[in-house]
Amino acid sequence: MAKNTPYISTKLTTQHIGKTVTVKGWVHTIRDMGKIAFMDLRDYSGLLQVVIDDPSSLPKLGNEYVVEITGEVRKRGERFINKNIVTGEVELGASSVTVLSESMELPFEINKDTSAVNDEVRLKYRYLDLRTERMARNLRLRHAVVKSIRDYMDGQDFIEVETPNLTKGTPEGAREFIVPSRLHPGDFYTLPQSPQQFKQLLMVGGIGRYFQIARCFRDEDQRGDRQPEFTQLDMELSFVEREDVMALNEALLIELVAKHAPEKRIQTLPFPRLTYAEAMEKYGSDKPDLREDKSDPNLLAFCWVIDFPFFEKTDGGGWTFTHNPFSAPVPEHRDWLMDKSHINEILTTQYDIALNGYEIGGGSIRNHQPEALKRVFEIMGMGQDVIQERFGHMFEAFKFGAPPHGGIAWGLERLIMIFAGEPNIREVMAFPKTGDAREPLTGAPTPLEAKRLKDVFIESVIPAKKS
Ligand code: AMO
Repeated sequence: MAKNTPYISTKLTTQHIGKTVTVKGWVHTIRDMGKIAFMDLRDYSGLLQVVIDDPSSLPKLGNEYVVEITGEVRKRGERFINKNIVTGEVELGASSVTVLSESMELPFEINKDTSAVNDEVRLKYRYLDLRTERMARNLRLRHAVVKSIRDYMDGQDFIEVETPNLTKGTPEGAREFIVPSRLHPGDFYTLPQSPQQFKQLLMVGGIGRYFQIARCFRDEDQRGDRQPEFTQLDMELSFVEREDVMALNEALLIELVAKHAPEKRIQTLPFPRLTYAEAMEKYGSDKPDLREDKSDPNLLAFCWVIDFPFFEKTDGGGWTFTHNPFSAPVPEHRDWLMDKSHINEILTTQYDIALNGYEIGGGSIRNHQPEALKRVFEIMGMGQDVIQERFGHMFEAFKFGAPPHGGIAWGLERLIMIFAGEPNIREVMAFPKTGDAREPLTGAPTPLEAKRLKDVFIESVIPAKKS
């Protein structure tokens, strides 16, 4: 670097007109016209046009080489201003170009949209895909949305608390990932499907208003809106009714749209509410797409769905919960739950929020009374010893003065996907998995050597693959 020239990001060059600065980044494009060469230099903040008056002095360069360039920031003539880039009113007249790192030819072009590139290749070289304008924009949007959420929740007196990932299983509908314990032969942790139990325990702990940008793990079949590892905005509040949780979430969603998707219009305010029965009857879905014009990319149709049945029949003829076993029934149906009658008619306090046909969140008022909660598991056919073994810690906690509480969790990627106008949540995740839950970049999941399995007391029943 030339002496005394500050290294700055390309976007700051507009503030240094007439000065000598150093910029660093990738060669996005280079056009050598013989007497003069033009380069678009790219860094995290955007593009900058670099002019090289004596191309013969240039070292060997190619696309995606990483370079350090020192030169004078010059104002462009009126005719040459490029309104499409942040630095469009300036250019850098290079006095020295140094190569910091060379690049092989890329497996796909990154100066255009990569959606058409084969998924396997895109994910194998995800770090190259992240250099594209669209992916960088999506990750920045995600960051900005999460920051706004944190600021909003903080302003509403919530605190963010991290809950464990190595923990005990919770029945919330999905199969769980398991982690063998080395220190306790034969025992396993499970990765959480959601922080459900811990957030309720935080309420017993007097935390009052909790939220978390929480990693969740679910071993289920993949779809465009499902990943095995995803993120929730998770929250729980003490001493609240359904209306309080819904009002807070509605206000936050409206604010996020205004800030991060200002080009979009919310179709109906306040968000319409449908009962589960109405949604099924009118739209045949419990996450109906209420958009009046489904071809309008800027229309957002939020709606709440409430009054879900608490239980549904299992294939074996027993009962299971439809949403969340920790939910309270609606107050009018509490007696039915207590005496285990009218099981198919009991409604839960569950509220789901749908947006343009996607379920973007769901929550409920919880069952904080141990006897009532026990009934849920009894209706599901669990014996007292199983209930005790799986949920004893919850029953015990609830016997020490549990406040009435409720909460909700959003699928953060689903919301950001819709804000970004993307068709798949993968497009708003830095390192997502394939449709069959693989990570082509690292090759995960992979077999482990026998020794590592032995350390955790696991023996594989699958014959070792020959490499
Ligand atoms: P639920 O299971 O409905 O509720 O999850 C909440 C929201 O998380 C999103 N979601 C997913 N997103 C991406 N990939 C997945 N595999 C995936 N699974 C779910 C959805 C969903 O609405 N503990 C309760 C919340 C509560 O009651 O407070 C829970 O996890 O958008």
